[in-house]
Amino acid sequence: MIDQLAEIKARALKDLAAADDAEATEAWRVAYLGKKGQLTTVLRQLGALPPAERPLVGQKANEVKVALELALAARLEVERRVALRRAAEAERVDVTLPGRQPSLGQVHPTTRVLKEVLDSFAAMGFQVAEGPDVEWDYYNFEALNIPKDHPARDMWDTFYVQSKGRPGEILLRTHTSPNQVRVMEKVRPPVRVVVPGRVYRYEATDATHESEFFQVEGLAVDKNVTMADLKGVLSAFAREMFGAERKVRFRCDYFPFVEPGVEMAISCFQCGGVGCRLCGNGWLEIMGAGMVHPKVLAGVGYDPSVYSGFAFGIGVERIAILKYGIDDIRLFYANDLRFLRQFK
Ligand code: PHE
Repeated sequence: MIDQLAEIKARALKDLAAADDAEATEAWRVAYLGKKGQLTTVLRQLGALPPAERPLVGQKANEVKVALELALAARLEVERRVALRRAAEAERVDVTLPGRQPSLGQVHPTTRVLKEVLDSFAAMGFQVAEGPDVEWDYYNFEALNIPKDHPARDMWDTFYVQSKGRPGEILLRTHTSPNQVRVMEKVRPPVRVVVPGRVYRYEATDATHESEFFQVEGLAVDKNVTMADLKGVLSAFAREMFGAERKVRFRCDYFPFVEPGVEMAISCFQCGGVGCRLCGNGWLEIMGAGMVHPKVLAGVGYDPSVYSGFAFGIGVERIAILKYGIDDIRLFYANDLRFLRQFK
């Protein structure tokens, strides 16, 4: 039996050396060390030996078993390394390849100017609020002293939303002014807010007209707010946006929700105010403004004999057009990358 063991060992080691892949190794394990393997079969016969021979044969058998197990472990380790090396080679990265440039987006010129406008007013203590694009006729017109039959409605023709219950009452806001009312309904004076937002008009589009654009509404209400405050705040804004040497001009204008109403212009920053292609006569109109109409104040429950305020409305694209010398407002919504990429 000892001879048989020695013979098994020699054959096993030879076979293992010849096994050249993981499958062959596994077949080898089953053939020699498996439950019905050759070595196991011999070990099972141990009981049949005379008791005197058992210890020696048992020891020998054990030695062979350990030797085969060690040989198997060594073989498996070699296989593991080969597999690892193959995997590493398959996944090899060429670190010398140039990287792919990710395409970086950038802020839209409207957004950029909008942020500058808001920052400028934030520095003067104005908070930012927002309101809905789809608005009630009440806020867009009625509460702003523009009743149904008012001719001023012609300046702000808009898109109406079909609604069963209240036909003709829901529309796309034509300006951000409804937020004057919405803000005042919610808070008591002092009020200092700026409200950015998209506005809509039923408009035949051309180089200076779009059916959608952005405005920033401003509102300040408190005791003793006067036209001097309006001029001071808006002049500071104009100088911040267009240069410290800007002169400002206020002329009468009409908006039903302010009294008096003004249109504000700045001295042209391109020619310094002498007149050029951009401005014509030296002045650039940049916004409408005025003292909040007493009817608007009374409408939200502010006592007009105690409180007064000023409001203004800035066209954001208009500011961008002036600042960057853009000659067509439709460029803002054309999604033409050649245009947009210029605003880095
Ligand atoms: N809402 C006006 C417009 O769209 C602008 C404006 C705002 C005028 C506030 C006066 C006061 O033309």
